Amino acid sequence: TQAVPVIAIDGPSASGKGTVAARVATALGWHYLDSGALYRLTALAAQRAGVTWDDEQALAVIAARLNVRFDSDSVWLAGEPVSAAIRSEVISAGASQVAAWPAVRAALLFRQRLFRRAPGLVTDGRDMGSVVFPDAQTKIFLTARVEVRAQRRYQQLRENGMSASIQPILQDLRERDERDSQRPVAPLRQSEEACLLDTSDLTIEQAVEKVLAWHGEAV
Ligand code: CDP
Ligand code: CDP
Repeated sequence: TQAVPVIAIDGPSASGKGTVAARVATALGWHYLDSGALYRLTALAAQRAGVTWDDEQALAVIAARLNVRFDSDSVWLAGEPVSAAIRSEVISAGASQVAAWPAVRAALLFRQRLFRRAPGLVTDGRDMGSVVFPDAQTKIFLTARVEVRAQRRYQQLRENGMSASIQPILQDLRERDERDSQRPVAPLRQSEEACLLDTSDLTIEQAVEKVLAWHGEAV
């Protein structure tokens, strides 16, 4: 039997991965997995359980037992809608700290692979093409200049009614880029086989078109 096809989109924070991946999934009628949400949910569940972000074994247990449900526009943790809660600054920083633990990554590996269902999966994260779906048909490293990413995140927060300013966002992006790229397990890195997509000067639509065109060539 033919393996279910996967489009893996990896890249740094606020590059537009999630937006582009979700639209590509809609265009193809495929499933979508936001893998970063699983790390964010682990950080949130840990916070609620009073587990600190340096307790690798306790975090791995929490990751393995996450009671999560995704539907078209919400994420649920133990029956409670948490889409907004997992996007807070504290949880964003926590997610990148819990994600550095090998036992946490191992606990989430199998769960991520369950999303690979016919007719196909589009997924975004840091290690989708390198670790979780190494046999993905199409691998993309989606990025943008850090100043552009900070501006996008700023705009996104404002649109969602949150107060924000550029400088702390820029600092947070730089710190997370550094931590995500330097960690020994599954670091954020452009692999040789991934197509580089710099969206600094592209609209979302142009980025989606690019991914679909590359995918068309890959099948
Ligand atoms: O949306 P943004 O790119 O800011 O973050 P995210 O994709 O939701 O991921 C949150 C954090 O989870 C990242 O900073 C990474 O440390 C971690 N992560 C990871 O390690 N591996 C993945 N496949 C996805 C996210
Ligand atoms: O998933 P990731 O953190 O990489 O980024 P995102 O949350 O999908 O995108 C961050 C913001 O950038 C969103 O508000 C997108 O609408 C916006 N964006 C953009 O303005 N232009 C693009 N070419 C891509 C994304």
